[in-house]
Amino acid sequence: MTTQSPKYFYTADSWDEAAWIDVISVEYESLVSAYPFDTKFRGISSEGRLKVLDVGCGSALFPQYLDQTLTDGIHLTCDLLDVSERSLRQAERVMEELEHFSAGRSIKTLIEDIPRALLPAVPSYDVIWAIHSLTTVDLKQMPDVIEHLLRLLSPGGHLFIYQLTADSAYQALHRVYRERVSTEVPRFMEFEDTQRILESLSAEYEVLELSFDHELPGGRPDLMENYLRKCVLDESVDTERVFGDLLPGFESGGLYRIPQTVNFISIYRS
Ligand SMILES: C[S@@+](CC[C@H](N)C(=O)[O-])C[C@H]1O[C@@H](n2cnc3c(N)ncnc32)[C@H](O)[C@@H]1O
Repeated sequence: MTTQSPKYFYTADSWDEAAWIDVISVEYESLVSAYPFDTKFRGISSEGRLKVLDVGCGSALFPQYLDQTLTDGIHLTCDLLDVSERSLRQAERVMEELEHFSAGRSIKTLIEDIPRALLPAVPSYDVIWAIHSLTTVDLKQMPDVIEHLLRLLSPGGHLFIYQLTADSAYQALHRVYRERVSTEVPRFMEFEDTQRILESLSAEYEVLELSFDHELPGGRPDLMENYLRKCVLDESVDTERVFGDLLPGFESGGLYRIPQTVNFISIYRS
């Protein structure tokens, strides 16, 4: 596996996170307002102190949104896991600024290697989440990874997965990218893959379906190019050539509205 692989996309210095966050913040805002995290955390630990594993933590964007919704007495000690050293350092810095979080261990590893890198221990995790991080993973290895994550939970704990669905524009754009640019690039993992795995494990889970639009101004091809490159995790693709014919379908009232569906799965460890 070379560092050109999409799973290393976020390790590059060229990654312009601020512009991207402007567009995608709706995904995190929608999630923290739709799911009762605070109540759920109090149900898992009456004292409100929880041990968490953040799988594919990136720059801890999700904790930043979640922090604002938590109430007094909740404290999450969060082990950070990512393949990107840069993201781990950034997430550690972010945690220092948050009211309800502190950083635990930083674990630099591929998600696919979790079954070998993290051995079940006592005490184990109250909550494990993988927020937008089960996308550029080797699908064949994911049944073992998910089964192992469930083993790392303490009884009564929860595994949360936030993941693109097959009919999200992210997935649609990536399918076009694979047809027109590179059939070698593996397809993204999607919610439906996780659902199949959970069914095969007879796991107990609930799904919250979330839909929203990413909005970009019309007449700014530079922003659209940047956005499309980030959606397909390729910083050099000629977006006009590959996606130009699709864009009119997203135009509405002087904006581009790109519909995304991302599902939140809550899996319970009995
Ligand atoms: C879209 S970002 C999401 C970050 C964070 N969870 C959030 O929501 O803000 C995906 C993160 O997962 C990491 N990642 C993607 N594929 C990975 C893999 N196969 N193994 C380890 N980390 C991976 C990337 O390095 C990146 O930091």
